[in-house]
Amino acid sequence: MLADDDRAGPNCAAGGHALDSMDSLAATPSVLRDPVAGQLELFLRFPRLAEVLPWVVLGAYPTPVSRLHLPAAAPGHGNPRGVELWAKREDLTSPHYGGNKVRTIEGHFGRALARGRRRIWATGAYGSNHALATAVHAARAGLDSGAILVPQPATATAHANLRALAATTCMISTAGHWLLRPAAAVRLLSDPAEVVMTPGGAIPLGALGHVSAALELAAQVARGELPAPAHVVVTAGSTATAAGLLVGLHLAAALEIGWRRPPQLVAVPVAPNPFASAPMIALLARATLRLLRNSLGADSGVADRIDASALRRGLRVDSHHNGAGYGHPSPSGEAARRLFQEATELAAQRPDLERPPLLDLVYTARSAAGMLALLPDAQGPVLHWMTKSAAPLAEASDTAIEKLPRPLRRWLAQPPVEAPLDAPPFDNG
Ligand SMILES: Cc1ncc(COP(=O)(O)O)c(C=O)c1O
Repeated sequence: MLADDDRAGPNCAAGGHALDSMDSLAATPSVLRDPVAGQLELFLRFPRLAEVLPWVVLGAYPTPVSRLHLPAAAPGHGNPRGVELWAKREDLTSPHYGGNKVRTIEGHFGRALARGRRRIWATGAYGSNHALATAVHAARAGLDSGAILVPQPATATAHANLRALAATTCMISTAGHWLLRPAAAVRLLSDPAEVVMTPGGAIPLGALGHVSAALELAAQVARGELPAPAHVVVTAGSTATAAGLLVGLHLAAALEIGWRRPPQLVAVPVAPNPFASAPMIALLARATLRLLRNSLGADSGVADRIDASALRRGLRVDSHHNGAGYGHPSPSGEAARRLFQEATELAAQRPDLERPPLLDLVYTARSAAGMLALLPDAQGPVLHWMTKSAAPLAEASDTAIEKLPRPLRRWLAQPPVEAPLDAPPFDNG
């Protein structure tokens, strides 16, 4: 098996895809292989990209945008009528399993299939959304899946994810710590039918799906579905999402779709420095821009109009919402979760209000906290990038749970540190 990391260079997609091995894509059972037909905004704008970037469409696009109403208790906001904000509903990317990771893995799957790989591995924490998205969607795309999992605090949502992962056919192995993950991956290296994704899928190819998401948002603004946001707030873990959005927000400005001045991207890290820091996000964004430029060929002029240093200036990182670290509840995140819970209760009494998605403790609670902190000084409409899947999760049988590696069974037996969230109904068709 080959690790993806060494092929993350900007030229890999343009030069490295064996288009003659695309035949293996013919076997994909239930997903679209044509990103133009799949309404991926990036490919709609540049259809020739599909010739150099084998893609597997796993999500239903465009994802909706919602206008949300938060009660007056929003911190720093004296407005007795409460606060209006916008949400990009990436929680609804797929009824099978949604969230931001769906867009990250589409390019990875396309490349794996084009290269004749049969199993794709994700690495993540025990309750990883990335691993679960990989397992659920690999089965739909005709790939086998594997997950190398490392410990994290026990939370109800992370427990539910692992139980759902156990319900899939994913091959699961554990590593005691993030630093041991390369060793776990190297053990698998001998089999050319297997491939291991970089943690979080964070290479330019993974970020490209989010370039498309930002263009999709710009197209929604151009259609009048929402006003042009002044700020887009997203949580950052592996940084694939933030880096791709940063490029896409600027690409939309270069194409004059939705806005001429790109919205500021506010990234809220879920892990301490140097992970998900501004330099790390900007580095991946620049590499993503290079991949785009190389892949666009004759159309690359538009990407040339984006100044790499403008990307860094268009990014703000708010790292005040980490609390005790990755996977632990953070005080500002928990306050945001309570506020969204109140907004949900309010929406239940007021049919004119849209029901907001509930926030998860690890990711969207932190980005919502960053968004609430931003509100008093916001320069215009604020948009929250909702990244946690809203799809109902499968429950593994007792037998499937018993088959999990022992560290995972022990972890599932630990009491979760937070109360379970009500799953909002999935309403994206
Ligand atoms: C629900 C959710 N939101 C946001 C993120 C962060 O995305 P990225 O890893 O692309 O930075 C993750 C990463 O796992 C996630 O699972």
